Amino acid sequence: VTALAPLGQQMAPYACQRRTPLLHSNQPLTEALETLAEEAGFSGSEGRSLAFTRAASVLKALPGRLSALEELGPLPGIGEHSRRVIQDVLEDGVSVEVERVKLSERYRTMKLFTKIFGVGVRTASRWYQEGLRTLLDLQERNTKLTRQQQAGLRHYDDLNTPVERGEAESVGRTVQEAVQRFLPGASVTLAGGFRRGKPRGHDVDLLLTHPEAGREAGLLSRLVSWLDSQGLILYQHSQENSFALCEGPEPPGSRDVLDRFERCFSIFRLEAQGGPGAARGWKAVRVDLVVAPVSQFPFALLGWTGSRHFERELRRFASHERKMVLNSHALYDTMRKRFLPAASEEEIFQHLGLEYVPPGQRNA
Ligand code: GTP
Ligand code: MN
Ligand code: MN
Repeated sequence: VTALAPLGQQMAPYACQRRTPLLHSNQPLTEALETLAEEAGFSGSEGRSLAFTRAASVLKALPGRLSALEELGPLPGIGEHSRRVIQDVLEDGVSVEVERVKLSERYRTMKLFTKIFGVGVRTASRWYQEGLRTLLDLQERNTKLTRQQQAGLRHYDDLNTPVERGEAESVGRTVQEAVQRFLPGASVTLAGGFRRGKPRGHDVDLLLTHPEAGREAGLLSRLVSWLDSQGLILYQHSQENSFALCEGPEPPGSRDVLDRFERCFSIFRLEAQGGPGAARGWKAVRVDLVVAPVSQFPFALLGWTGSRHFERELRRFASHERKMVLNSHALYDTMRKRFLPAASEEEIFQHLGLEYVPPGQRNA
């Protein structure tokens, strides 16, 4: 790219065809666009939300700092509205529209409520409509809460304090040691944002497997009971494996169905490592545990490493460009009517005809 060529000249249309590092040069722009994406999501406008997310993701992959809108050239995936926001931030340092959103009562309340573990946009929106505005309101008006939401509210401050990498590694070691008691040889892999190189995150995503097929069955419930008996679990909600591989090769259904591994959404009681929580001695940390049979492990690893947008783009690419269905269990070729097995993430990219993107470059 010469000095005169537009910055975005070589930009591929799908995020999974691009390398997106953790740190990039257009933070103020992507923050503005992601605020609007979030706000659109709060309003139930999924399409609009996706458009802002796409635009932000494109900027994250630019090789340098954008100083004028013209440098973008005719980039794919950045619509009129996003261009206007970019121009405002470039010219004035802020976008009036974004600032207005950030100050609005609805946005602030939705943000407060959706930060409760177990509260999604629909619930938060209903509460807002009913006139609720604060966490205290929820208690004083005896709002009906699920067990998950009660735990989320009880540990609100801890769960909204970022998990540091050291803490994530400590949780990983605890789980690894516990797993060895029940299933020697099993492995525990840190996925999610930490695998992409993030120094902190909102939870710890751990993927469990065993090199011998079938040995992993039943591991999760034994693991969680043991951790619980040690006083290490503050909340847990487990789900059984419902992926019916034994029913024979059937093409996966909808692209966006939640995957069906044995999994556990939990809150761990982590002994303090110093930092906030050190005075009290412990800190509540969100942990996702997922168990995958070894044959599905590369798909699970790819699916649980993220980012969310990178995953969405991988699936869109697979379906629109390759007539394949990708999920966290398998890759299915709808033309040849067969599953494409893989022993590594690299092989999945090969099946898709994509250049391999290492985890640290999947921060789309
Ligand atoms: P932080 O945790 O906020 O630091 O970022 P993260 O990228 O780790 O996000 P998160 O823990 O929410 O998700 C990690 C990855 O797991 C993302 O790529 C998600 O797409 C994926 N993921 C989360 N929940 C599910 C799920 O229910 N099914 C599947 N298949 N993937 C999921
Ligand atoms: Mn995570
Ligand atoms: Mn997670």
